[in-house]
Amino acid sequence: MRHRGLLFLVLFLIQEQGLLFQVSAGDGFIRTRGVHFMLNGSPFYAHGFNAYWLMFVASDTSQRNKVSSAFQEAVNHGLAVARTWAFSDGGYSPLQYSPGSYNEQMFQGLDFAISEAGKYGIKLIFSLVNNYENLGGRKQYVDWARSQGQYLSSDDDFFTNSVVKGYYKNHIKTVLTRKNSITGVAYKDDPTIMAWELMNEPRCTSDTSGKTIQAWITEMASYLKSIDGNHLLEAGLEGFYGESEPQKQQYNPNFQVGTDFIANNQIADIDFATVHSYPDQWLTGENDESQLHFLNNWLNNHTQDAQNILGKPLFFAEFGKSNKDPGFNTNQRDLLFNTVYSAIFSSARGGGAAAGGLFWQLLTEGMDSYRDGYEIVLSESPSTASLIAQESRKLIKIRKMYARLRNIEKRKRSRDNKRGN
Ligand SMILES: *[C@@H]1O[C@H](CO)[C@@H](O)[C@H](O)[C@H]1NC(C)=O
Repeated sequence: MRHRGLLFLVLFLIQEQGLLFQVSAGDGFIRTRGVHFMLNGSPFYAHGFNAYWLMFVASDTSQRNKVSSAFQEAVNHGLAVARTWAFSDGGYSPLQYSPGSYNEQMFQGLDFAISEAGKYGIKLIFSLVNNYENLGGRKQYVDWARSQGQYLSSDDDFFTNSVVKGYYKNHIKTVLTRKNSITGVAYKDDPTIMAWELMNEPRCTSDTSGKTIQAWITEMASYLKSIDGNHLLEAGLEGFYGESEPQKQQYNPNFQVGTDFIANNQIADIDFATVHSYPDQWLTGENDESQLHFLNNWLNNHTQDAQNILGKPLFFAEFGKSNKDPGFNTNQRDLLFNTVYSAIFSSARGGGAAAGGLFWQLLTEGMDSYRDGYEIVLSESPSTASLIAQESRKLIKIRKMYARLRNIEKRKRSRDNKRGN
């Protein structure tokens, strides 16, 4: 199997090399070409982690060493991408106190997270607002508009009300044009940032046709790209199928949230697709075996869609298993992680669209108040930690192989050029 994977990769490269070497950009930005992420001219595959807390912890200078430790431990295990929040709206420890009014201390926390990620060679994905009420979310935006006299009947009006959309666009602009107080680089020009995400898990259950979310993503993606042409953008989706592919809706867990994995990701300004998977929450009451079975199908279906229908890369941007699940043991979590990593590897080894997985969530020691059941502290979970390290290395090997092939081709070309071809 191993050799077959390799052969596949080599054939695939030969087929593609004509295009591959036109990309000269060595500027450190991650881009896409077809179903691949590209970094400095070579396909980019990497596992990573969620750490929504980076800004919050780093906003307290006495706690910043936790960000550095987490990055160090992550890098030691081969992890290279972190997904985190560039939002906290109203309430306790806000980034945005009220529309257009920002907390400099929190922004400096974000500055530190970016500057530190750059040092460790970690790429960041920043989500710009929450679907849920935690840390404000779209409910807070709707409440702000109400307090300005707007009549809004539900939080779903977040997606359609023009005052609310104006507030959100202003947040996009404020974050993207922020100049980092440590590095001096504007966020929109910083290659440490891999991508922006429009919303953490958009849902609009009052319109299950998907039209409301489709229109919102289209408008906001276009607005964001008008400010920042450097960075990739994704929508923050969990992956539920919608009306554009009715025969696939049966693959959803048994609920509809108003998103459409295919149509939403076909929007031109959306560069790559994401999937989240929580079989323990989505299929409560089913046993572990059937949850894993669901997960495997979920991942393979979405990988095929990214490959064949979307023609864009795919990140498994959230997955995990809670230690609060009934009868939890670490082995079950490792099985779940292994299911995700195997699905990714079997796509990646053939040059496919699945490019990496980000588990929810990485903590480091001394962060007990952030424990949510899904936390991984690498130093306290040796079996999970070694699985993560082993799987990350497999993706790093794929990257190295591409880089080697690219160098061989470069040498060959320069020989040919010298001969006057
Ligand atoms: C998609 O999921 C369904 C069940 O949910 C499964 O029967 C089918 O084999 C899956 N397709 C792929 C390509 O994995």
